[in-house]
Amino acid sequence: MKFPPWTSVSEAARLLKAGEVVAIPTETVYGLAGNAFEPKALAKIFAAKERPTFDPLIVHIADIAQLTDIAREIPDSAYRLAEAYWPGPMTMILPKKECIPDLCTSGLDTVAVRFPNHPVAQQVIKESGLPLAAPSANLFKHVSPTTAEHVAAQLADRIAGIVDGGPCSVGVESSIISLAGSPTVLRPGAITPEMFAKVLGSVDVKESTSKPGQPMAAPGQCDTHYRPQVPLYFGEIPAGYKLPANTVRIAFGMQPGPIPATVNLSETGDMAEATANLYAFMHDLDKPENALILVDPIPNVGVGMALNDRLKRASVKGFGLSG
Ligand code: TXA
Ligand code: MG
Repeated sequence: MKFPPWTSVSEAARLLKAGEVVAIPTETVYGLAGNAFEPKALAKIFAAKERPTFDPLIVHIADIAQLTDIAREIPDSAYRLAEAYWPGPMTMILPKKECIPDLCTSGLDTVAVRFPNHPVAQQVIKESGLPLAAPSANLFKHVSPTTAEHVAAQLADRIAGIVDGGPCSVGVESSIISLAGSPTVLRPGAITPEMFAKVLGSVDVKESTSKPGQPMAAPGQCDTHYRPQVPLYFGEIPAGYKLPANTVRIAFGMQPGPIPATVNLSETGDMAEATANLYAFMHDLDKPENALILVDPIPNVGVGMALNDRLKRASVKGFGLSG
């Protein structure tokens, strides 16, 4: 295959209709898209990512009216959230229709649906005429891609194409809210629990899952997701610990750190800027010459909750530097 396999919107639509998988930009992270109705295309997605089939996929649409093609019961709350936050970085879990293959939902009776805000994602969905199942376009458990080059580095020789839509503006995966029961936030993102509560009155927030010895409450929420190859440490460094020589630091704001900042998520402490930069910095610093990546504390408020969630999963758990 030619490298990198950059693909136009119309070529992507043609490939998707033919059952191929293609990486497309969204405002959150790049997705690896395939026909949500076609089990063979879904199987290609799982194979390319080396993702276990117990981790269900999000179905992407480009019109609120498409919800009825996918979801069996759509509560009024879903339409109110859609009006407020679609197109955008919000995924809703709803009871699924028969036509959605079990492979898409890992056998669950519910389906995850999102209407992304990226114009290129919308064009590809519209031109293909299909709802597109798309997980983040990275190898399983690796850092999600926020540029087309990130996708190419991990998946170029495994997929039919990549549509380059520039860097992702949000930079962290969508917020997931389950509406199959009382509204519950399953994954934090740019749509915060406060923003959900504003529309719904109140929401529950699921505690971080995968406690030792317990089954995953939300599939895919493994506590070792989002990991670079170089050990990353997010947390207080124990007093007296001697950092390896080639330690690099992802700073946030102007707080002091144990070594000078290598890069800064946002010198002014702007959370949206920090979110858009985080994964790109993790990709950039994930080089064999680096021994350790330190990340400054980030306030656990607003979209900062999503960053804390992802960084805790990315972090080695102790200073023995094991996972
Ligand atoms: O921003 C995003 O959501 C990106 C872009 C490409 O849209 N996609 C994304 O997909 O992050 P992925 O596959 O990396 O994460 C999807 C997660 C699953 O791991 C699982 O936790 C949850 O969505 N999920 C999907 N279907 C579900 C269901 N029926 N019930 C509960 N959780 C579900
Ligand atoms: Mg992912």
